[in-house]
Amino acid sequence: MQKTIVNSWNEWDPLKHVIVGRADDCHIPPEEPALDAKVPEDSDMRGQWGRRPQETIDRANELLDNFASLLEKRGIRVDRPTPIDHSKPVTTPDFHTDSQFGCMPPRDVLLTVGSEILEATMSYRCRWFEYLNYRPLMQRYWEEDPNFRHESAPKPRLTDADYHPDYLSEKIGVEKRLKWTAEKFFVTTEEEPLFDAADVLRFGRDLVVQHGFTTNLKGIEWIRRHFPDHRVHAVNFPGDPYPIHIDATFTPLRPGLILNNPQRRLPDEQRKMFNDNDWEIVDAAQPAHNTPPPLCYSSTWLSMNVLVLDPKTVCVEASEVYQMEQMDKLGMEVVPVELRDAYAFGGGLHCCTADVYREGGCEDYFP
Ligand code: NVA
Repeated sequence: MQKTIVNSWNEWDPLKHVIVGRADDCHIPPEEPALDAKVPEDSDMRGQWGRRPQETIDRANELLDNFASLLEKRGIRVDRPTPIDHSKPVTTPDFHTDSQFGCMPPRDVLLTVGSEILEATMSYRCRWFEYLNYRPLMQRYWEEDPNFRHESAPKPRLTDADYHPDYLSEKIGVEKRLKWTAEKFFVTTEEEPLFDAADVLRFGRDLVVQHGFTTNLKGIEWIRRHFPDHRVHAVNFPGDPYPIHIDATFTPLRPGLILNNPQRRLPDEQRKMFNDNDWEIVDAAQPAHNTPPPLCYSSTWLSMNVLVLDPKTVCVEASEVYQMEQMDKLGMEVVPVELRDAYAFGGGLHCCTADVYREGGCEDYFP
């Protein structure tokens, strides 16, 4: 009998097969609207672009390889992408950018829902072709698993009409950004459906999707129509001045328990489905670091970007002592994993992976 390769319905069931990204040939891409809006005004990333320094690529790869071995030792199958040449420009009839991003992190591009892996539209021009890094794996799964659904969302045009010019002035300032976030005024417009896979969390029959810089309302509507058997919930986190990717903001650990970034609290009216079903939403512990590492897009809240191996076991970055302590108190077995020197490549332990197989089926947690 043919084997099922792809199956994953949530963020916590026992993990059996996963993709771990690679740092090879990762670039800091040139300026472009959605990317610029994400980089803080005082960041060391401003004004830089080009291939990342080789010693940082080597160090990140060392950590990613170690993480992959650790998962394999725990009986989890690990696959790796095949890097394309990220120095190549991207030119379409609608835009041009001089380089790409990399094949980190896979969670941003690939959304696994049941037996389907969906390639997201993406909303940065430099990430338009990123799915190609994963195509050899997708082809293999398609050959091996007759039930695997390999899907790709419509490629967006990413013309200037996709971005609000207001976000592109040099010094917006955090206060204005927070006001705009609260008003749900983001850098991306509603020109066409846009979403990154890392804005989606899977809770069995329910998908929770962050509306922000990288996912617009049309993107959420596209996801809703694409998964007609799911309930799709749009969420916002008003305390986040750079709202991209939900996985350093809202982290489900097991049925009934979610960590929420205390600076980006889910508004009361959006808590109803969790409250009504006795789910606990607890504030995440403070990050152990005051600043992100050099040349990093993400915030210090990668502390809560953890990979759940099963409802009792979680991988936490090894220097995040407060987050590890909190997990322990919440009754989780903690597996420390060193990854901080790879954060600059696009994120933490959840980001740098993409689910292929978790045990279990599609449950309804919010009946
Ligand atoms: N919004 C995130 C991205 C993390 C995956 C941040 O805190 O930087």
